Amino acid sequence: MALSLSVTLLSGSSVHLSLSPTSTVDELRQEAQRGLGCHLSHLIDGSGNCLPGGLQIELAGLVDGDTVGAIVRHAELSSTHTAFALLRCDGSVVTWGSAYQGGDSVAFQSKLKDVTNIYSSDYAFAAVRGDGSVVTWGNPGAGGDSSSVQGVLKNVRHIQASSHAFAATLADGSVVTWGNGRCGGDSSSVQGKLVGVQRIWASKLAFAALTSESLVTWGSFDAGGDCSAAAAELAQGVRQVAASELAFGAVLLDGSVVTWGDSDYGGDSSAVRHQLQSVRELRASQGAFAALRSDGSVVTWGKESYGAHSGTVQEQLKDVLDVQASESAFAAILADGSVVAWGNERAGGNCSSVQHLLVDTQELCASLGAFAARRRDGSVVSWGNALFGGDSSAVQASLRDVRRLHASGHAFAAMREDGSVVTWGNAAYGGDSGAVKSALRSVA
Ligand SMILES: *[C@@H]1O[C@H](CO)[C@@H](O)[C@H](O)[C@H]1NC(C)=O
Repeated sequence: MALSLSVTLLSGSSVHLSLSPTSTVDELRQEAQRGLGCHLSHLIDGSGNCLPGGLQIELAGLVDGDTVGAIVRHAELSSTHTAFALLRCDGSVVTWGSAYQGGDSVAFQSKLKDVTNIYSSDYAFAAVRGDGSVVTWGNPGAGGDSSSVQGVLKNVRHIQASSHAFAATLADGSVVTWGNGRCGGDSSSVQGKLVGVQRIWASKLAFAALTSESLVTWGSFDAGGDCSAAAAELAQGVRQVAASELAFGAVLLDGSVVTWGDSDYGGDSSAVRHQLQSVRELRASQGAFAALRSDGSVVTWGKESYGAHSGTVQEQLKDVLDVQASESAFAAILADGSVVAWGNERAGGNCSSVQHLLVDTQELCASLGAFAARRRDGSVVSWGNALFGGDSSAVQASLRDVRRLHASGHAFAAMREDGSVVTWGNAAYGGDSGAVKSALRSVA
């Protein structure tokens, strides 16, 4: 007997459908798209969980008369170090930048349909489609080649990436990994523990997965792949994890922080432990950490040359709303809309040359060597190393009505209110989007 279901948007519009219980969630989504006349990225159940596309609707727990929520798909940018990918509202994908590292997806266009999410390692992309399958492209050694695991990459719910590997969480809570083994692409040693996985985080060389039982890590041992020294504290419960190149930091449920991995890269936070309370958010450059506390203050530690000491600006770091990190510097938005930066000057750690322009800041975004700030009026200010997007003067006239900023390692992309995209920075690594110009204009 057919199931009668309603699919509802946040806006309140809804459509009533009748489907066979053996139809998949993905088929339900496609029917709802037609009925609602808009593109939907996911369906969500009453508890707010995404329903896996490949599951039959009865196995997904839907019963006759149920109402399912739907999320409208918006265009979204993602990036490797040297290329960008734009997921368009219709589920198609446009790429540009370094051809070998994800910028060229021509050979995959026939597969890049109905994409719901795009994830990236430093040099490859992985796209999840509505049916829960995965398409990868880019540098094969950085996870761009997933052929060895394609058979088990089904019902993928989420993907996390280290520098050269991917880890996919499946609907049943298990994990599939691929890519460079030294960067966590090989999880065979912990496969038995990867059950009921709720979230996965990554450093450059290792992964950490939160299961219902514990935090499980794998990858390079000396780069955070071994968390046994922190295991007791981690068992209290983890709220958020951030990673430098070789170390992890985790915010626990009580707002304290525990770190592990290479001590030079922030793995040792003992010097500031007493200050690491009521932490709201943790950010990491490649060698240092910055903890944003709920009172708006910031605590830093790790490698000095990577922003571990906020030194002269420490006194200004009050009422901080957000912190972002380049490879070796940090920048913070303050409650009054101004910006404070510190760390390696060649990576954006000194914003004094544009300080007078940094007003009404609403969003900060970092490449490896520069920062860009979006102001309330939709304009953008950038600073730092010009080879990494620190100079946006060539496109300044187009940087109007910007809605979101996104960075690759070496360039920036700004999405405007009308859905068009403006790029700047290293031309070979995504800063020049001329080759896909027309595709980037017709996003909406
Ligand atoms: C930042 O750069 C300015 C010049 O633009 C310089 O005068 C100042 O000393 C620098 N600040 C630091 C902390 O190095």
